[in-house]
Amino acid sequence: MANFYYAVCPFGLETLLADELQRVGAERLEPGKGGVGFTGGHETAMAACLHSRLASRILMRVAEAEYWDSRDIYDLARRTPWEKWFGPDHTIRVGASANRCPLESIDFAVLRIKDAVCDRFRDLAGRRPDVARHQPDVRIEAYLTYDRVSFYLDLAGESLFKRGWRLTHGEAPLKENLAAGLLMLSGWTPEKTLVDPFCGSGTIAIEAAHMAMNAAPGLNRRFAFEKLEGFGGEAWQELLEDARARVNRHAAMTIRASDISSLVVGKARENAARAGLTPLLEDGRLSFEPCDARAVTAPEGTPGVLIANPPYGEQSNPKSASINAMMKDVASNLKANFAGWSAWLLTSDRTLPGQMRLKESRKIVLFNGPLECRFFRFDMVAGSNRRTRAKDTQEAN
Ligand SMILES: C[S@@+](CC[C@H](N)C(=O)[O-])C[C@H]1O[C@@H](n2cnc3c(N)ncnc32)[C@H](O)[C@@H]1O
Repeated sequence: MANFYYAVCPFGLETLLADELQRVGAERLEPGKGGVGFTGGHETAMAACLHSRLASRILMRVAEAEYWDSRDIYDLARRTPWEKWFGPDHTIRVGASANRCPLESIDFAVLRIKDAVCDRFRDLAGRRPDVARHQPDVRIEAYLTYDRVSFYLDLAGESLFKRGWRLTHGEAPLKENLAAGLLMLSGWTPEKTLVDPFCGSGTIAIEAAHMAMNAAPGLNRRFAFEKLEGFGGEAWQELLEDARARVNRHAAMTIRASDISSLVVGKARENAARAGLTPLLEDGRLSFEPCDARAVTAPEGTPGVLIANPPYGEQSNPKSASINAMMKDVASNLKANFAGWSAWLLTSDRTLPGQMRLKESRKIVLFNGPLECRFFRFDMVAGSNRRTRAKDTQEAN
């Protein structure tokens, strides 16, 4: 049976996410702001959880209606057949997000939904589910607009960008799904050499290595749907087996990541090892080395792609005053050593091209959490960079 699902993702990656979802069999794709609606069976939804590099969550809609006040919301939650998916022995947590919702208190609506679910189970089974703030078995998400309310079950549990390898992190790590988005937007493919000279915890390099190996991002983690009726089972085991069989441990790649801090580089290596990439570190397909970005050199061979998020804003180290000067020197190094390369930099600082005395050939608006960023592309030519800027459909000032 086809259900309606909503896949949440970082703003700016919706079109790419729709492509990903289509590849796992999703239908009637509706890219929106910060997510994509789609239809499909449970198998499609499980495949989306397992294979999507860009989604943060996959939500399954279980009820929807017009409402006037919180009594209508209670009634809808009371009528919803929750017992189809979980029982009174599961722990639950209810959350809500709203867009132009006229209710005075969203928190009160959340409370009423929780009451309704518990009252329904008390009537049916004489017992009610407990509420768990942390790691509930079942997460119920309500979405309230001006006059409609929808209930969703969160199939992911922990956000999907958590791939199961990150324990330690460097300064301001990128979320894994944003790192995947940067790789996809840049047009990087595994046959191209990849360099990240500001690698921090190694997110971009590790994500790229998994992409090159065709390793599904969800292979090393669990999902909330595993505790729901109608999910899991043979279909899930087949999806897992198929994904495991597709991993190519011998995939060719050249990925060079570095950071000025040797401590951070050590942590990135640990992350890579936990991500199952030790063989790649050993045979040199993937490397993490301490190096100042002002002194990084390009690996030999055909020019490749450089992708990084250099330090910016208050979170940065060294502090912002010195970043301008540093980025000017980084630009000199890129001009001297990376001729022919595409260099892509994610930053919240719109003045970065000016600081680097470079003209961007593309500029894409993205959000790193709540921080509005630009993903700048610079086409590196030796000496000065005089290319005119290409027209960019996703450009904004
Ligand atoms: C925003 S963080 C990068 C985060 C990384 N993408 C991740 O996901 O973990 C910026 C990194 O730049 C490093 N850094 C600062 N100045 C540098 C320089 N001159 N050369 C190389 N790395 C530098 C910092 O140590 C920090 O790890």
